Amino acid sequence: MSLEGKTILITGAASGIGAACAATVREQGAYVIAVDRNEPREVLFDQFIRADLSQNDSIDSVAGQIGRRLDALCNIAGLPPTRGRTPVLQVNFIGLRQLTLNLLPVLNDRASIVNLASLTGFGWADQIDQVRALLAVDSLEDVDAFCEQHGVDDARAYFLSKEALVAWTLQMRWKWRDRGIRMNSVSPGPVETPIHQDFLQTLGKRAEEDMLLVERAGRPDDVAPLVAFLCGDGSRWLRGVNIPCDGGMAANILCQSSGLL
Ligand code: NAI
Repeated sequence: MSLEGKTILITGAASGIGAACAATVREQGAYVIAVDRNEPREVLFDQFIRADLSQNDSIDSVAGQIGRRLDALCNIAGLPPTRGRTPVLQVNFIGLRQLTLNLLPVLNDRASIVNLASLTGFGWADQIDQVRALLAVDSLEDVDAFCEQHGVDDARAYFLSKEALVAWTLQMRWKWRDRGIRMNSVSPGPVETPIHQDFLQTLGKRAEEDMLLVERAGRPDDVAPLVAFLCGDGSRWLRGVNIPCDGGMAANILCQSSGLL
C-alpha cells in the first residue's frame, strides 16, 4: 500500500535508522518532515526542522514550524548509553513523549505514531516499579533527580528509556481512539549504525554473546520497511503493539525463559 499523499514527521532522520525510514517512506510517496539536531547530509526530506529533543524550547518550537497536518509521526531519534544517563532518558523517553503530546493537535484523525524502542526494552514488565516511576516524571528538568533517587547509571538508563517507551506504547493503546490515532513500537536488536559500537562498549561480553546467536547485525534497511508499514493504512488494526525486528532474538529469549527451546 502506498504512502502517497501522506505527510510523515521523522525524528532522528539525519542518521542510521531514521535516515533509512525517511528514504523508504519518501520512496513510497510520503512528504517527509525531518527533525534532528543535525541537518541530514543527504536530501531524504522535504522539510528540515532543527530541534534538540533534550531542550524544552526546542521541542516546543517544532509544532509551530510545521505547515501541514501529519498522517504519521516516527519517533526515532535516540542516544546510546555512552552519552550519559540524563541525556539518554531525556532524549529517548521524556523528550520523545513531550514532542508527541505537543504534536497531537497537528495530527490528522487516524494518524499513526511509531516509536523506535529496542530489544533492551523487552523486560519492561520485570522492571515495572522503576518504569512506573519514570512514567510519572513530568519534565526534562526532573530527570537528573530521578536518576539520583533511583540509582540509575548510564547503562541502566538506556534499558529503562526503552522499557518505558514500550510500556507507554501499550498504555496509549486506546488513548486517542476517538480520533482513530494509534501508537505502536518497533524493537530492533543490534543494528549497524554509528551508535552500534557504543552499545558493544557498554554491554561488553553480553553484546558479544548476543551477536553469536544471529548470523549478522541488523541493518537500517531491515527496520525501515516495518516502520513504513506501521505508518500506512494497511496496519490500521495494530494498536499498542511492540513488534520485535531482530532476526529472532526476542523469540529466542522467550523460548529460553519458558523452557520451550
Ligand atoms: P544514530 O546515531 O545513527 O541516529 C540517531 C539520530 O538521533 C541522529 O541523527 C542524532 O542526531 C539524533 N539525535 C540524537 N540526540 C538528539 C537530540 N537530542 N535531539 C534531536 N535529535 C537527536 O542511531 P540509530 O542506531 O539509527 O538509532 C535510532 C534509534 O534506534 C534510537 O532510538 C536507538 O536507541 C534505536 N535503536 C538502535 C539500535 C542499534 O543497534 N543501532 C538497536 C535498537 C534500537
